[in-house]
Amino acid sequence: MKTKSLPWSPTSWQQRAVSQQATYPSTEALDETLEQLAQLPPLVTSWEIEALKEQLAAAERGEAFLLQGGDCAESFSDCSSPVITNKLKILLQMSLLLIHGMRKPVIRVGRIAGQYAKPRSADTETKNGVSLPSYRGDLINGQEFTASERIPDPLRLLRGYGRAAMTLNFIRALSDCGFADLHHPENWDLEFVKHSSQAEEYQRVVKELSGSLRFMETLGGTGNAEMQRVQFFTSHEGLHLHYEQALTRKVPHSEGMFNLSTHLPWIGFRTAATGGAHIEYFRGIANPVGVKVGPGMSDETLLELQELLNPANEAGKLIFIHRFGADRIAENLPRMIRVVKNSGRRVLWVCDPMHGNTEATASGYKTRRFEKILSELQQSFDIHQQEGSVLGGVHFELTGDDVTECIGGARGLDETGLERAYRTQVDPRLNYEQALEMAMAIVRKAGV
Ligand code: PEP
Ligand code: CO
Repeated sequence: MKTKSLPWSPTSWQQRAVSQQATYPSTEALDETLEQLAQLPPLVTSWEIEALKEQLAAAERGEAFLLQGGDCAESFSDCSSPVITNKLKILLQMSLLLIHGMRKPVIRVGRIAGQYAKPRSADTETKNGVSLPSYRGDLINGQEFTASERIPDPLRLLRGYGRAAMTLNFIRALSDCGFADLHHPENWDLEFVKHSSQAEEYQRVVKELSGSLRFMETLGGTGNAEMQRVQFFTSHEGLHLHYEQALTRKVPHSEGMFNLSTHLPWIGFRTAATGGAHIEYFRGIANPVGVKVGPGMSDETLLELQELLNPANEAGKLIFIHRFGADRIAENLPRMIRVVKNSGRRVLWVCDPMHGNTEATASGYKTRRFEKILSELQQSFDIHQQEGSVLGGVHFELTGDDVTECIGGARGLDETGLERAYRTQVDPRLNYEQALEMAMAIVRKAGV
């Protein structure tokens, strides 16, 4: 059934059914915080957002590739130099492999600087007979299982904004100086993998790329300033609509309103109901937007999502991030691609091979198998090709650290190895080496 439309404003979502929100003990305290947030400067600019949209339009045409990756849930304590630099390092290294193997520009988007709110399957968590509100991400409450930590605290919205600003400030500084200089990729090396087989193949690619870079500069006669810095965009799930609303702004010299908390907000699978508050909020912002699509979504829903989220059929505006699971993609994706094709509307297709492949081990760890993730990804490339469509990007949960959360990969991490460094706040992430291996596998599948 089609949803009747409301006149859009940053607050019109409040007239719709809203799922996955926190219940604050005091609305006055929440409103006060939101007023403060609304006074603070934006974290990103509309120019950056427009630039990203243009690049996403190129990815839609198959002329660029989107690499989106980062934590399932960032924690406030991740706002530290090593965590941020390691995440940048792995994304930069993966992007080099992809640029080299696919021979096209790679758009780097972190799940970073704002990925602080999480949807949960249950509102409460029970341990030893005690029930408390579920942990919903550092933007809302604390992870520790105590009554005081689990009460949603609006001041966390200000702290989240602050952490996002500090993270982004560091990313911007790093992207604009020697660290991100493509002449010095050795800055991105991580100590703990220097001797792995992944590292060897990576070093070979780096050598080749540096060679061609020098060749181009010799031809051009000068050093290329563009090569000394890299572009880096941010994204997060736009789940906490009060927070997103407070950072939604009008800018001079541009139509419409932008969410200036991040470049690329996305709608999670659990909040993608077409009549719901999240779609209502997202339909009015000028940013490119992602929406997770997966099993059980009808043809009508897909068409309605397109109409609502990209009514003008703008290029680079709407991303369908599909996430089925390796065992379900074959029965679902071809139909969805056909529906979109027949609609004649533009969509950028991206594969999230993580969220349909989550399982629990006998000892209770939430994990994902490398081979399942890889299989969903490989099937995605094949299905898009068979259907005459373009897979324009990938969406990973990964970290630049040496964690043990996903099973498999070249090191053969098994179930018993998970306990060594299982650190995620919510979902299992690829560790540094598994992420690099995944980038190499993409190149083997889709490289030229
Ligand atoms: C996520 O990306 O962390 C997530 C919760 O995914 P999904 O909405 O696809 O379940
Ligand atoms: Co996740």
